[in-house]
Order: sequence, then structure tokens, then C-alpha cells
Amino acid sequence: MPAIDQYLQSHASRFEDELWEFLRIPSVSADPAHREDMHRAAEWMADQLRRMGFTAETIPTAGHPLVYGESPKLPGARTFLVYGHYDVQPPEPLEKWTTPPFEPSRREGHVYARGAVDDKGQVFTHLKSVEAWITVEGRLPVNLKFLIEGEEEVGSRSLEQFLSEQAERLACDCVIISDGSQFAPGVPAINYGLRGIAYYELRVTGPNRDLHSGSYGGAVTNPANALAKILAGLIDEQGRITIPGFYDEVVPLTVRERQEMAALPFEEAKFLEELGVAGAVGEAGFTSLERRWARPTFDVSGLWGGYQGEGAKTVLPASAGAKFSFRLVPNQEPEKVTTGLKWRLAELCPAGVELDLIRLAELCPAGVELDLICHHGAPGVLVPLDSPYVEAAARAIAYAFGRRPVFTREGGSIPIVTTFRQRLGVDSLLLGWGQEDDNAHSPDEKFSLADFQRGIKASARLWEELSTLSLESGKPG
Ligand code: BES
Ligand code: ZN
Repeated sequence: MPAIDQYLQSHASRFEDELWEFLRIPSVSADPAHREDMHRAAEWMADQLRRMGFTAETIPTAGHPLVYGESPKLPGARTFLVYGHYDVQPPEPLEKWTTPPFEPSRREGHVYARGAVDDKGQVFTHLKSVEAWITVEGRLPVNLKFLIEGEEEVGSRSLEQFLSEQAERLACDCVIISDGSQFAPGVPAINYGLRGIAYYELRVTGPNRDLHSGSYGGAVTNPANALAKILAGLIDEQGRITIPGFYDEVVPLTVRERQEMAALPFEEAKFLEELGVAGAVGEAGFTSLERRWARPTFDVSGLWGGYQGEGAKTVLPASAGAKFSFRLVPNQEPEKVTTGLKWRLAELCPAGVELDLIRLAELCPAGVELDLICHHGAPGVLVPLDSPYVEAAARAIAYAFGRRPVFTREGGSIPIVTTFRQRLGVDSLLLGWGQEDDNAHSPDEKFSLADFQRGIKASARLWEELSTLSLESGKPG
């Protein structure tokens, strides 16, 4: 057995102990109460890099710190940038967790914790593969730069800024990212597409105070009724989004792509059963995989207004609100979606609703106010599959997972991937070690420890595969 694999095997349980340490830090980027934890997580990562002989620092930003490190220079070798994130999604609802989100727990071959798969466990595989190379061989066979951010789950604003100022520092031949999933257990994947996103919050304000719904109901606009109507009007019976021009730039699926997706071992009945839902829904004329990976969608993520306590209260609430987003596909632009959304909101706003921020007030008589907040946006992305890097990664995955990867798209978003293309002129290799049912963003998030160890093994092999590409052949055209 090659010495590196032997090292990985004999240190496997320590790698898990270290991952536990990382998972115990509640680095929730969306919640200002966790600012200090964000610093702790960043320092923890930087320290890991330094211990392997990298120059590493945490870089302060207007938001949460970036972690950046470089391996000792290896002249004449290619350079790869490993990107990942140390921030995690909020763990709520806490009562739905079997064990607390920041007390990692091992059950049935998995580690359960917020961030286990998204993305602490995955990004850590690349750190441990580097450790193995440095300890066993004394050096890596390629140059590596690590860039780990703390705002991926809230839109990567600070990293966007950093890239616009310091792109030269990040110069590389290709970006390596493990922040997604395999196709299924035993079916590893290389991912060639991510959806984009446009995320909003809509606040509807009505009368100057909560009112008795009997005395006033039906005579003044109820903001919760208005909100429900507006949200429902954003999508039609065919599952099509009703914003004018919304589909204009959508790159359609090719016949070949549809055939390839249809050929993947996807069992719709099993998919629905696992989620506990009776049937599939979505845009007419598309399969579930097409809807999830390659078509734009609309989803409400939060909804409030009125009485939420025990029992019934007859109230006409003074305000209501929603958080919602559109998942986008190439070549939709979030800015254009915002413009179209404002027009559509103007059309949908019921009598008695005032469009304030939207500045189309003449369309609605006074009574209720609409405020639209744009949280974050990113376009979708497709990466080419005909590159020597993809082939090198396929070999490394086959070596560690025992079979060649299938090629998939993903429905989620990693906003910075498009920016890497624009600012650094390079593509990303999307190598997800997780599973679709690992509960990312949900209670009981988990990561298979076998996938964790295979991910480390694949990563270690990847550095070798990438180092053997001839210097010319690997250059992006
Ligand atoms: N790891 C996910 C992205 C992902 C999800 C890739 C599913 C592949 C499959 C990432 O951390 C994430 O959740 N991103 C956010 C980005 C958003 C907040 C801008 C997302 O997609 O919701
Ligand atoms: Zn992630």
C-alpha cells in the first residue's frame, strides 16, 4: 500500500477527533451573536495550515475573516486554489435535532453536527490530504493556495470585494471545491453546474396598529392577506414564474444533456418516499432532476405576520413579511430579476397597498406599504468537462471511491464560482463528497465518516494526478 494511504489509515481516528473540534465552534455567519465564534473558527483553520508549513493568516474584512494560506513554493509546478467555507447555516429549529448541533455525535458511521457536510467536514478533507503528503513525502507535488471564507452561507460579499482588489494573489490554474454531493451512496460525482440565486425579503405594512378582525376585517387591507396573494401570484399553475422577461436568458437543456440526466440511476419513487411527500411538483414538461438542477425556481423560506401563539386570536395584523428566493440558471442575472420582480409586485399589489421602495406608488392607493430588501444574488454557472483537470479528478475519485464518477449538476449555489471565472480566468473543479440526504441546512445534518475518509484519500491522490499533467496540457484555453 502506498505510504500516503498507509498514513491516512493509521491517522484516521485522529482526523475525526480534529473534525469534532472544528464542528464544536458555532460559526453561524448569519447571526451577529456569533462574531467571536467566527474568529475562533478562522483562527483554528489558519493554525491547521501553519502546522503543515503553510504561510497562513486570517484576513479581516467588513464581515467575517477570510483564511488564506500558501504551501512552500515548488518551482515549475502548477498551482491550485482550494476554496471552501468555515461558516455554517443557523441550526434552528433546535428542538428537531436528535443531539445538539454543536456537540458532534457519532451514530451509525456518521458524524451529526451543523457544518458536518456543509462545509467543514468537506473542506477538512483537503487539509488532511496535505498533512499526509507533507509528513510522508516532505512536500506536496503541486503548489496549493487555500482560501476559506466565512460568508458563503450569506452571499460571499467580503470575498467578492477581496477578489476585486487582490486577484493576483490568488492566481492559479484551477480552483478545487468540495462543497456538494455525490450522486448517491456508492456513486461519486463530478459536478459541472450550480444554480444561482436572488434572495429577497418583502415587508408589508398596513394599518397603524393591530386591529380587531371583526370590527375592521374586510374594510381595510390585511397585510397578511395581501402578502399571501402577492406570493401566490409570483408563480402560475404550470410552475412558471410570472415575472416579465424572467425566462429570456435561460440557457435551455440540450437534448444530449436531457438524455444523460435521464440515464442516471435516479428513482423518483424512492426520492419522494424518503422525503415523505406524495408526489412530484414543479415546472410542467421537466423531470425532477431537470427541475432541481437546470431550471429556475421560486421558494418562500420564511413567512410571518399575525398571531403565532397558542389557540386562536382574532386579529388583523398591522404587518406581515416573507423571505423568498429564486434559484437561477445560466445566463440569468440577479439584477435583472430584481427589476422584473419590482414590476411584477406592482402588478400584484392589491388595492390599498402602497409600493414604497418600489416607487410605483401611483399604481396603488395608500393604505399598506411594501418594502423590498435584496439580500444577495449570484448567477448560476456551468464548468467545462473536457479539461485535463476533470480527467485527473475522475482518476483520483475512481482510486478512492472504487468507481468512476458520474457527471451531475446541482441545485444549490456557491456564489464565488462565477467570480473566480471572471476575476481569475479559471474554472472550478466541483468534487462533492457528501450525500444528498446529509441534511445540509436542516436539523440532524450529518456526514458519512467513510465518505470523509474516502474524500481525504481522493484528495491526496488528486494532488498526485494533477502533478503528472504536462504543464502545457493543463492550461485552460
Ligand atoms: N454547499 C452549499 C451549496 C450546494 C448545495 C452545492 C447543494 C451543491 C448542492 C452551499 O454552502 C450553500 O448552501 N450555498 C447557499 C448560497 C446562498 C446562501 C448564496 C445556497 O445555495 O443556499
Ligand atoms: Zn456549503
